[in-house]
Amino acid sequence: MANIYSNIFSFNKKILKKTVKILKQGNNVGLPTETVYGLAGNAYSKKAVKGIYKLKKRPNKNPLIVHYISVEGAKRDVFLNEDFFKLYKKFCPGPLTFVLKKKKNSKIVSEVTANLKTVAIRFPNHKIVRAVLQLVKFPLAMPSANISTQLSPTNAYDVFDNFKKKLNIILNGGNSKIGIESTVIDLTKKPKILRPGVISAYEIKKILRKNFSKKRTIIKSPGMLKKHYSPGIPIIIGQKPKNSSQAHIVFGKKHKKTKNNYNLSQKGNLKEAAANLYKTMKKIKKEGYKKIFISKIPNKGPGVAINDRIKRASK
Ligand code: TXA
Ligand code: MG
Repeated sequence: MANIYSNIFSFNKKILKKTVKILKQGNNVGLPTETVYGLAGNAYSKKAVKGIYKLKKRPNKNPLIVHYISVEGAKRDVFLNEDFFKLYKKFCPGPLTFVLKKKKNSKIVSEVTANLKTVAIRFPNHKIVRAVLQLVKFPLAMPSANISTQLSPTNAYDVFDNFKKKLNIILNGGNSKIGIESTVIDLTKKPKILRPGVISAYEIKKILRKNFSKKRTIIKSPGMLKKHYSPGIPIIIGQKPKNSSQAHIVFGKKHKKTKNNYNLSQKGNLKEAAANLYKTMKKIKKEGYKKIFISKIPNKGPGVAINDRIKRASK
């Protein structure tokens, strides 16, 4: 029988070389990162970036994150400031994305930033994407590898489910450790969290030692407002299911193990819960449930990011 997953590859030198070649030609590949899997393309190539929007069916008003291997690379495209360096030192490479002012002579194509004067940049912490970034000599525009509004993929097979054979290469880097997307922080003026992630506002404030902007977000991070991260079935928050034919996502020790109970973390660990969130929603959908009920998740640390994703998934 033919292997339907023939475009999913384990990592080795040969496939690394082929991946680099495909990216240099302005084509797209699926790559693992520590947060979720990404759909990558050369951030300096119109062809590559247009390919990303088309594959994801992403509205062109929603800008992409640009991924770098080093500060030197990022310096060519954006103005780095004091807040950036403080946070970089503490959290990078890692699940933190910085919105910074774009340089006039930057080669990042305008489609990446949806014509904004700012760029979102990230230094991912996964050996496979870092190996690719080392070799390509250009930064990678890389949104999560899902169809727009759907759940982000946390393993190579999820990426395959979204794009099938439209990608020549999906590199298999196992399960994403963090499991939800990076924290996005705007550093162009008073710091402001645009998208919560496992690195919390509290942890960031401890490093920056200054107040954050209290202004409400106008559509600065367009992905922030709409329905997003949806598993494709209704989600009801803060209620219990009426019978065992409805799935129930729970958190913590006090919940019994039953057939329709899905515990994000029996230990009550919010990081573990974040890592299990998308995986669990996908599993429930695959098992044929038509509705998901979700119990309250503590709204602190990574819990803020979990609740943000659940709320938007329920829209
Ligand atoms: O963990 C992650 O960040 C993953 C992995 C693959 O790196 N990427 C990811 O990308 O989540 P994406 O495209 O799914 O989400 C990017 C978010 C969107 O909410 C977008 O609106 C925001 O970043 N964004 C991008 N550029 C921006 C900019 N210049 N200003 C404000 N927000 C921006
Ligand atoms: Mg996304």
